[in-house]
Amino acid sequence: MPAVPDHRPAYHFTAPSNWINDPNGLAFHAGRYHLNYQYNPNASKWGDIHWGHASSADLVTWRDEPISLAPVPGHDAGGCFSGSYALVDGQPTIYYTGYTAERQVQCVATSPDLQRWTQQPGRTIVTPPAGVEAHDFRDPYVFRHDGRWYMVVGASLDHEHGQALLYRSDDGVTWEHRGALFTSPSDRYGRMWECPNFFPIGDRWVLTVSLWLGLGVHAFVGRFEHERFVPEWDGPLDVDAGAFAHLTMHAPDGRALQWAWMNEQRDQADIDADGWAGAMTVPRELSIDAHGRLNLRPVAEISQLRRDAVARIATERQTGTHASFSGSTLDIEARWTGRDRGKVGLNLLTSADGRETTRIVYWQDARRLSIERERSSLSHAVRRQNVHAHLALAPDEALDLRVLLDHSVLEVYANDRICLSTRVYPTLPDSVSASAFSDGPATLALQAWTMGSIFEGERRELMRGES
Ligand code: FRU
Repeated sequence: MPAVPDHRPAYHFTAPSNWINDPNGLAFHAGRYHLNYQYNPNASKWGDIHWGHASSADLVTWRDEPISLAPVPGHDAGGCFSGSYALVDGQPTIYYTGYTAERQVQCVATSPDLQRWTQQPGRTIVTPPAGVEAHDFRDPYVFRHDGRWYMVVGASLDHEHGQALLYRSDDGVTWEHRGALFTSPSDRYGRMWECPNFFPIGDRWVLTVSLWLGLGVHAFVGRFEHERFVPEWDGPLDVDAGAFAHLTMHAPDGRALQWAWMNEQRDQADIDADGWAGAMTVPRELSIDAHGRLNLRPVAEISQLRRDAVARIATERQTGTHASFSGSTLDIEARWTGRDRGKVGLNLLTSADGRETTRIVYWQDARRLSIERERSSLSHAVRRQNVHAHLALAPDEALDLRVLLDHSVLEVYANDRICLSTRVYPTLPDSVSASAFSDGPATLALQAWTMGSIFEGERRELMRGES
């Protein structure tokens, strides 16, 4: 057993070292998925943003690739901010935001093979539309529709309301501003929208946004009519309460796949000591359910990472704490049926003396799912406030949790409808026990597996300090 718990995830993507934030430029090319990401190659904190790069043939095992984009004097001298990929007339192309202290502009780079990228400064969209400041203009998301290219850009209307701007192009080179695709219906949803994504699933269109200075991934579902988005819901659906700056791509088989970024929640001194910061969620598959809600679940491929089956439990109706197993990389499927009032949930990363524990709790009366982190770590240098999401289950509806625990990463998917993702940093070497509980009588079916690594060879050794 290690002297202190290792916080480095094994099956959630992190950079070889140093800082990462948003997923960028997702692509499928020549049989491989490509995940680019916001990357500071020289420090474990945000700054000097490049695009790091990794690829995978199967969404399970990842290999590091050379850096895709580095800032150069000119439009992106201060950093290559977030953006997306498109195959334009057979030409691999990325659209991203060039950052300088003065302004943000939308830049282009092209490549023959997704390995070597050439910045194309002559194709930059320099000036934001009237009413949008040059500091509130970023994260282009490009898609094809009705024989044309469209680009959605994150913005703020008068510094007050989040907004997604729409551009249109016949050739992917020259762009025309078409007005606002959609403006936030309320000032409750952030003053600026980052990373707007706009894509079809079945006969619906989905607009997902990250709220500047907020947390979470918020989705509107609706229609795309006359170059405007018409939502079917009054407000956004909060699909992930803890991750940020998501990016969606369509896989060759048509699935809508989404990644998002999970920031650190600990002091910079602790981060520097470990030399890495930030992790991606696992890839998730998005869908629309019969109620027109956006659903999300880990892609099926993730189960290939399952190693040892550490629990297989089917209880009769009972109360109290009832299943126990252990691990700090776990994939857990738990289903409670016939629930009474009160709470049901899981204890994770619990130490033998009980001083450390992370609890996932469903409050049936309050219809609330929580991750309780007050006791998740004995350290005062980590954030430990609880995280919550609303989850209204009908009285006879099962509660289905899919829990991905990966050292300091915790993703909790509930009934495919919401995800609570967060970070936890236990300090005691024996904080590895898990169990299930229910306040009142409930029937539980639970399976759990330990999980393998998404990296091979040297990268794996490097991460575990084994080299
Ligand atoms: C979101 C974000 C983006 C920006 C990038 C900079 O986390 O702020 O809006 O492009 O990160 O790293």
